[in-house]
Amino acid sequence: MQAVVLVGGEGTRLRPLTYGTPKPMVPIVGVPYLARTMERLFEAGIREVILAAGYMPQAIVDYFGDGSRLDMEITYAIEQEPLGTAGALKNVEQHLTGPFFVLNGDVLTSLDLTAMMAFHRQAGGLGVLHLIRVEDPSAFGCVVRGADGRIGRFVEKPPQGSEPTDEVNAGTYLLEPEVLQAIPAGRNVSIERETFPQLLAAGKPLYAYVTQDYWIDLGRPEHYLAAHRDILSGAMPLRLEPGLTGAVAQAKHHSVRLFAPVHLDPDVQIEPGAEIGPNVVLGRGCRIGAGAVLRDCVLWEDVVVEAGALIEEAIVASRTRIGRGSVIGRGSVIGHDVEVEAGSIVAPGARLGPGTPLPIP
Ligand code: GDD
Ligand code: MG
Repeated sequence: MQAVVLVGGEGTRLRPLTYGTPKPMVPIVGVPYLARTMERLFEAGIREVILAAGYMPQAIVDYFGDGSRLDMEITYAIEQEPLGTAGALKNVEQHLTGPFFVLNGDVLTSLDLTAMMAFHRQAGGLGVLHLIRVEDPSAFGCVVRGADGRIGRFVEKPPQGSEPTDEVNAGTYLLEPEVLQAIPAGRNVSIERETFPQLLAAGKPLYAYVTQDYWIDLGRPEHYLAAHRDILSGAMPLRLEPGLTGAVAQAKHHSVRLFAPVHLDPDVQIEPGAEIGPNVVLGRGCRIGAGAVLRDCVLWEDVVVEAGALIEEAIVASRTRIGRGSVIGRGSVIGHDVEVEAGSIVAPGARLGPGTPLPIP
């Protein structure tokens, strides 16, 4: 079985993080999100992966190469202009040899891909879509299905209040090659707005695979932080890299007040009297000054937080410096290589990037 991972989006909702790192390379507890997806594909026995990329592809190519390090075979299809979620599949048609998985490159889920393959074998049809129930379906593709699982309708992001169901497209499909025939070549095509509705209107059988797995779309800062909280609490099962947690972290950093759960890269340096946690992830090379307070935040690599700074509910990208005594408001997102001057008060929800025009959408 092959898999196509859609990683061509610009990650606009994660700006300014995605000015320096494309969304699939955004770290989830220190490891690029896409590497975690590759691991899941590997565990399901999938060795051939096609990455449909477009935005900042070099960062992806540099990290994964030809895939041999992972014992996988990676083919890149780099779009000069975004081809859309179906156009990206049409664009790799020549590489596909049979039924294939399609993964949105930004969902974190515990979905069992092997079980989904078994479901497809038994259900038949042109394909299977993984569905999940959510509270606000208007932000997703709503999928209406019968009791037998057969899908009747696909409505992408309907206006709030008019959602036909709370079961939504969770961004993992298993498709037969015949689906590709329904996609016109050479232009931008959305699988959600064009291909699925057209197949259904033509009476083609698509089936829903509804599960209660952990599932979150990482595309928004608040969801990125929520995903980290869920990983730290164990609600989202994930094998983490060696890092310091719980009593071990406290024993190493005995002059620091730690509030579990936290995940600290083994080489972080923390000065006495700092207060870290709960729900804090510190990446490689982070240095935290005396008396700094960090709660509910994810700091990428080589972030420097000077003495007495306060960071709550925020994401800070690599190599940024938070000056002495600064206060970073809740919901802030601070990009790469930013220098926040000592004593700054960063308003809640701010988006700060180096040399990026503000405000950022
Ligand atoms: N190669 C390529 N080319 N990839 C693309 C393109 C493109 O033109 N456009 C988007 N993608 C990738 C994105 O990088 C992302 O991984 C995935 O396709 C989905 O795009 P998003 O922009 O994240 O879409 P969304 O989150 O608003 O909605 C989609 O995901 C929801 C579940 O999270 C839809 O599939 C919804 O129906 C679904 O409910
Ligand atoms: Mg998304």
